Amino acid sequence: MALLVSLIDTDIQPWVEVFESELSNMDIRIYPDVGDVSEIEYVAAWQHPFGEYKKYPNLKAILSLGAGVDHIIKDPALPKDVPIVRMADDSLIRDMCLYASHWVLHFHSDYYRYTKLQAKKLWLPQDFVAPKNRSIGIMGFGNIGKSIGDLLTTQGFKVVGWGASEKHTTGGIEYFYGKDQMSAFLNKAEILINVLPLTDATRSLVMERELRQLPKGAFVINMGRGSIINESDLLSVLNSSHISAAVLDVFDVEPLPVDDPLWSHPNVTITPHIAGQSDGNTAAMFMVENIRRIENGEPPFPLYDVTRGY
Ligand code: GLV
Repeated sequence: MALLVSLIDTDIQPWVEVFESELSNMDIRIYPDVGDVSEIEYVAAWQHPFGEYKKYPNLKAILSLGAGVDHIIKDPALPKDVPIVRMADDSLIRDMCLYASHWVLHFHSDYYRYTKLQAKKLWLPQDFVAPKNRSIGIMGFGNIGKSIGDLLTTQGFKVVGWGASEKHTTGGIEYFYGKDQMSAFLNKAEILINVLPLTDATRSLVMERELRQLPKGAFVINMGRGSIINESDLLSVLNSSHISAAVLDVFDVEPLPVDDPLWSHPNVTITPHIAGQSDGNTAAMFMVENIRRIENGEPPFPLYDVTRGY
């Protein structure tokens, strides 16, 4: 019985150490050294090459390094009946909260303006806005979106959420759901944070029309998936100054091609898909616990649901 570790762009050492010490009855193999394919029962995966999963006839589960599983389900040859387990380790959620909070403050407190003013040696204090008068819109209100909302609420911001389905929210967070309520939500989002997963329903969900429903001068933080907010529409709405600035961690094509105009746009900040970097130790433990659950005949958590698409 073997666990195959295939984690692109990741320092796999801490992961392998946890797997080796916690799963002593399992052979830990590092891709591409797959060995006997019939022994592979689990894959710890981040962008495992397409066409590979179907070669493992005794696969019991695929464990995603990320909360998003689009890197797995995009594989046209993916076996249909293998459970896919998402990542919901606290360290990933905490990192996403820190990233969101950093950029909210960057925009809310005018630091993005002061950077430009400093370049011109200009001493120009900007008007103060109290956090309670700044409304932050979070698209995607699962465990990540909700945690970001709770943190921003604690910091005093007004938070509005949007998701596909009805939900009960606490802490004064106003919640909208479904396509019908999307405009009402966008109208309130002075700083829009996207943490939606990429599914058939969310691909190109936010186009020029939706971006123009944000209040004039709004900011966009995309830390969900690139293909949800249309990149060329975002550029044109930025160029028309309806949106003041954007921070993008995720893109249609990653790494972002060097000739992409987003790289050099004066009001765009690029980060290389680092908003939620799992802590190797705790995230590996999260996978170990799910493997133990499966071995004990219990359901793993959180399980990818094909009908929801995430
Ligand atoms: C990162 O993108 C993730 O899916 O967690």
